[in-house]
Amino acid sequence: MPGKGYFLLYLWCLMNVIVSCGGFKAQRCPVPCHCDFKSLSQGIVNCSYSPIRALPLDIPIPLNTTVLDLRYTSLSEIPPNAFSQLEGLKALYVGGNSIKHFHKDSFAGLWNLELLDLSPLHWDMNFDYEAFPTNLFRDLISLEVLMFGRMSSSAHIQQGYLDQTLAPLHQLQQVTFPSLPDGDTPFGRGYNNLTSLKTVVFHGVGSVTNIRKHTFAILKNCPIERLAFLVVDWTP
Ligand SMILES: *[C@@H]1O[C@H](CO)[C@@H](O)[C@H](O)[C@H]1NC(C)=O
Ligand SMILES: *[C@@H]1O[C@H](CO)[C@@H](O)[C@H](O)[C@H]1NC(C)=O
Ligand SMILES: *[C@@H]1O[C@H](CO)[C@@H](O)[C@H](O)[C@H]1NC(C)=O
Repeated sequence: MPGKGYFLLYLWCLMNVIVSCGGFKAQRCPVPCHCDFKSLSQGIVNCSYSPIRALPLDIPIPLNTTVLDLRYTSLSEIPPNAFSQLEGLKALYVGGNSIKHFHKDSFAGLWNLELLDLSPLHWDMNFDYEAFPTNLFRDLISLEVLMFGRMSSSAHIQQGYLDQTLAPLHQLQQVTFPSLPDGDTPFGRGYNNLTSLKTVVFHGVGSVTNIRKHTFAILKNCPIERLAFLVVDWTP
């Protein structure tokens, strides 16, 4: 019965197409990103400098991605749980976008993230709990390096220096803050928790003249080795 044979062959081909399409889809690099999955330990997905505008992407980000670069992609927000399936993600770059505040679950599920680079921040962003909600870094228990970068000199700076947002970062070793505001904003209690913090850098505009001793009093539990002030020329 040739008819039946052809039918089975057709069915077999169809199955193959479906299976290989499914498989292919899972392995494809999302448009318009560049991917490098060649090196054994690293899966790099680099979408920087190509407009994406919104997450999620049409093609899912491969699950074994370890480095994800989304800088300068015109993103205006990071939706809740945007990366929560990327359990192996170690480094995430999201600066240079139009993001003015994060959702409290923007970075949910990133248990293994070691580096988070938010710089450069949007020029109109504030350094307060509206922009960086208190639960934002709740899951980032492996984070070692956090970069905010500089901020406009008119930005609102939260009392306590966002200490409630940073308090869960027990493994944090290095942080780059926007410049210290003039006047009197001591670091808040949450910094008591940062028992791994070794390097604090302020990335600033203008000069740092008004530092008072008690500003840093709460950091006495941190094993600080390096405190730096980077002053950049910046004409707004
Ligand atoms: C990660 O996934 C991609 C796409 O699915 C695959 O090509 C690559 O071999 C995988 N790399 C590792 C290190 O598992
Ligand atoms: C992504 O690509 C850009 C431009 O090619 C490059 O400057 C950047 O360093 C890359 N990001 C990563 C994490 O390798
Ligand atoms: C500081 O760490 C302790 C556990 O070590 C935790 O219970 C507490 O909630 C943390 N503080 C904040 C503000 O997250």
